[in-house]
This record gives sequence, C-alpha cells and structure tokens, in this order.
Amino acid sequence: MLSEAKHGIEFLLNSTTMSYTVLARRYRSTAFEGVIGQEPIAQTLKNAIKSGRIAHAYLFTGTRGVGKTSMARIFARALNAPATIPDCPIPPGEFDYPEQDVQDRMAKAIMSGDDLNVIEIDGASNRSVEDARQLIGNASLAPTGNARYKIYIIDEVHMLTKEAFNTLLKTMEEPPEHVKFILCTTEAHKVLATIQSRCQRFDFRNLPTSRIAEHLTNVLSQEKIEAETDAIWQVARLGNGSMRDALSLMDRLIATGATPLTAKILEEMLGLPPTEQVIGLIDAMAAGDIGNTLTQTAKLIDGGIAIEQFFDVLIERLRSLMLVAACGKDSELVELADDAREHAAKQAACFDAAGLVHMIALCENVQRTCKLSSNPRALLDAAMVRLALAEKMADVSAVLQGGNLPGGQKKN
Ligand SMILES: Nc1ncnc2c1ncn2[C@@H]1O[C@H](COP(=O)(O)OP(=O)(O)OP(=O)(O)O)[C@@H](O)[C@H]1O
Ligand SMILES: [Mg+2]
Repeated sequence: MLSEAKHGIEFLLNSTTMSYTVLARRYRSTAFEGVIGQEPIAQTLKNAIKSGRIAHAYLFTGTRGVGKTSMARIFARALNAPATIPDCPIPPGEFDYPEQDVQDRMAKAIMSGDDLNVIEIDGASNRSVEDARQLIGNASLAPTGNARYKIYIIDEVHMLTKEAFNTLLKTMEEPPEHVKFILCTTEAHKVLATIQSRCQRFDFRNLPTSRIAEHLTNVLSQEKIEAETDAIWQVARLGNGSMRDALSLMDRLIATGATPLTAKILEEMLGLPPTEQVIGLIDAMAAGDIGNTLTQTAKLIDGGIAIEQFFDVLIERLRSLMLVAACGKDSELVELADDAREHAAKQAACFDAAGLVHMIALCENVQRTCKLSSNPRALLDAAMVRLALAEKMADVSAVLQGGNLPGGQKKN
C-alpha cells in the first residue's frame, strides 16, 4: 500500500497483520519536498536533472538521521520513475519511460530498497574487495527491465576497506553512461580523497529543532495521537538535529501508552528532572532566597539525578534564558514551545545576558570540579548558594580576574 500524504510521506503500516513499523520508517520522505531542512540540496539535484548535468557520482554526507538515504532513494526514483513524483524534471535525451503503473511499481521497490536497478549496498557489511568486485562487477551491463539508469547507493561508505575503495575507484573513474553512484556517509573525512574528488559532494545540515518539532506535530496528528506542545519540543530538542533520533524517541514515548503525551511522562521515562523543578530552582535564585535555593536543589537531587546531569539541565535552562535575554523571546534560537517561551521571557527578565553567561560559566566550572571531588554535594550546594547570593558577591570584573564567580541577577 502506497499513499502519498501531505509532504510526500509514505505509509507502510501493514494493515492486514497490523504489525508495527517504527515511525522513522513509516514516515520516510518520498518526494524532494518531504526531506525537511535539505531544500537547497533537493533544488540542486532537481536542477541537475533538468539541465541534464547529472554527475556520475555523488557523496552525501551529514550526521545520522538527517535524510541522506532518503534523498538518495528519491533521487534514484526521480531518475528511473519520474512520473511518480509531482513536478519532477525529466533528464533530457531520448528515452521511452515505461507506463505509469510500471513506474509506480518501480518507485515502490526503490523506496523500500528492493529495486533491481537501484542497488543498495551497506558499506559496513560488504567491506571486502571481493564484495566490492561482486557488487559492481556487473555495472557495465545495461539496466534490466525498462529502467533508464543503474544506480548504486553505497551506505556507510567510509566503512569499506582501502582495497575495496580502490576497486570501487576503478569503476567510478569512467562508469558507463547509465551508471550513477550515490555514496552516503556520516564520516566524510574517512572517505579516500581520491574517491571524494570523483564525487559531487553534498553536506546535509543538522535539522533545526523547530523543523523537527513541526514534523513531529504533523506525524502525531496523522497518527491521531494527542501530545502537549512542550513534550513535542522537548523530544525535538533531544533529537539533537537528527530527525530519526527524534522519531525513535517519540516511538518510545508513544509506547508508554499515555494520552496525551506530556513532558512529565517523557521526563519520567528518561529519568530527567521535571522542568518545573528546574524552573523553581532558578526562581529561588532570582529571588536571592538561599534557603529555598537549597531546598529546590535537594528536591532535584533526591529525585535521583546525578550531579553531572543536574548541571546539564540547569545549564540548558540558563542557556534558554540567556538566548531570550539576548535575542528576545520570539527569536528562532529559542527552542521552546509557545507557552514555555512566555514563561522563559518572564524568568529571563530577572536577569541580564551577561549575568546568565556567568551563571553558565560557574555551573560548567563546578560540574568539572565535582567529577574530581570526594564531596561533590558540598561543592554543588556551595555553587547554588553563590548563585543565589550573586547580588552580594563580587562584581563581574573580579570574576574575570579569577575571583568569585557571581550569579547574574539584574541590579535594580
Ligand atoms: N530531513 C528529513 N526530513 C524528514 N524525515 C527525515 C529527515 N531525515 C531523516 N528523516 C527520518 O529519519 C529516517 C531515516 O532517515 P535517513 O535514512 O534518510 O537518514 P540518514 O541521513 O541516511 O541516516 P544514517 O546516517 O543513519 O544512515 C527517515 O525514514 C525519516 O523518517
Ligand atoms: Mg542512511
């Protein structure tokens, strides 16, 4: 079953057995526009097809889960089954493309990695020379059936041995007109320079949190699953620029069976401290209330988080506040849902950007010292008191000279 959803999203749930396919596979992009955040690459590839300047080898590089394999398959599909992609350019030159239904079948096989003329090779499991020889040995033979090109997609290409690379190099040097290579890798620096220089290279971007959040919202609404925007944004942030990581995390969250999905459930699932407690701690610091600061600190630590993680979450929150203080609450740099943004703006108003910079520096510093200390808890408490006492501590210049680091409350 293949149905084209809003952004060229493929729906692969096997409706007869209702076996579960993970979101990342079910929502693999099937059209150029569906590969979120990689629009310039999609546009360049489309232009190349239109003008007939299709290179014989491409190198797609970028972090894991940002759309390399998806784009490689879509490109292959555009070359061999253009009628299955709306507004898809057709390479110039004489060629009789097969009927729509044949192209549809081809497209489906290409997208699931089963097409005979779009050969997907996993560099990690086919590393040897023999493997390389076998796989590209028949490259000179014309494509089978009604296909126009024979396309080799070599995933994790950096895993090939040097000998295998060299075998590949020979074929890549002067491949027959009908052969195209698409090499994908997360580690471009491990790909031999001689290979790189034969390829047209595309660097896939890490995806902005806002685009990931948007996609997750879209996926959840198609799945008819309710979720708090806060939870969606937190999952998006935790994806760290990788759409696949975010979708996998969302799968885990959905598996909890909760409705609606909330940030609290996510935090429980990952053993993260509740955001409202972190916010409460910073409120106590902003008020200069030492007692409450220590109580809030104890609450978080008693909740079971390690001191290192405590600093991680505190630093992350302080960073959000710093961004709000420096760039305004509506800035794209602030990776928060709308409600959380408003709240962060109120909290950030108690500080100034420079002060927050110092708070972050202090946390980072003490986090490191704690790893070496036999009494990290004392250091942690002392650091929190220092942050709460910032008003009464040395000023910024003293800190820069190596004195006490103050917290960053705004002076009235
Ligand atoms: N840019 C993107 N837009 C939409 N979905 C994406 C994007 N990138 C990744 N995904 C999702 O993540 C899944 C995996 O993507 P893909 O295989 O293209 O990543 P990759 O860059 O090849 O990763 P890896 O380096 O781990 O092989 C896709 O099925 C899709 O659901
Ligand atoms: Mg891949």
